Amino acid sequence: MALDIRTGRRPSLPHTLWHSTVGKKTVMAVSGLIMLLYLVVHMLGNLKIFFGPGEFNHYAHWLRTVGAPFMHQEWTLWLVRVVLVAAVVAHAVSAYQLSRRGIRARPDAYVHKKPRASYATRTMRWGGIILGLFLVWHLLDLTTGTVHPGGFQPGHPYQNVVDTFSTWYGNVIYLVAMLALGLHVRHGFWSAAQTLGVGSRRRDRALKTTANLLALVLTVGFVSVPLAVMTGVVS
Ligand code: HEM
Repeated sequence: MALDIRTGRRPSLPHTLWHSTVGKKTVMAVSGLIMLLYLVVHMLGNLKIFFGPGEFNHYAHWLRTVGAPFMHQEWTLWLVRVVLVAAVVAHAVSAYQLSRRGIRARPDAYVHKKPRASYATRTMRWGGIILGLFLVWHLLDLTTGTVHPGGFQPGHPYQNVVDTFSTWYGNVIYLVAMLALGLHVRHGFWSAAQTLGVGSRRRDRALKTTANLLALVLTVGFVSVPLAVMTGVVS
């Protein structure tokens, strides 16, 4: 391993990895998979809304007492929140640094004529920005109630969800974000598999099918909630 010209010391393996392109891509892949796992669980939990207010609100209450009596009230939930925040930050920072690296690595001939990023790159970039903005809105809407339409009722997520999807803008925001989520997961899962070295000529077809299925199931599962409120199935 080469010496660091600034410190004159041999850099540590984590330091070298963090500063390498493959290290940043690995951080993106692992943090993305952590968020994906959360999203699958969140989507399945949301489907409990179809069993009525009693079951949905009880489930939300249970989320705050998971692990009791060993874990104190909300400790498990806070643990999950800390891991998620770390994953979101690591994902966003690596994405930004990788995109800066992509720009710097371009040959001089591109200085005056900016090349168009590929369709996949543009979809991932804009999708990521939309999802980041959505997440802020979503937390202010259904967790803190700051931008919630009508009176936000802590501990009554069923009514809160119905209120959100009883407004046109609530439906537009969530439907656009869920579409972005589907596209992001579809390409992101595939990219993560390549980065982590799971891909091979034999497995690529199966990986592509898994990515498509995951994206479809997540999008349909999430979208079913606003659709159910819009059509009066959930009220
Ligand atoms: C139609 C789609 C969705 C619905 C109906 C929905 C519903 C909810 C509800 C009701 C809560 C509050 C739960 C509670 O306080 O007990 C919540 C929290 C949350 N949702 Fe969603 N969600 C949706 C999509 C998403 C998506 C796509 C993401 C991620 C990009 C997401 C991430 C979160 C996070 C991080 C929390 C905070 C959990 C916590 O720390 O308390 N949700 N969601």
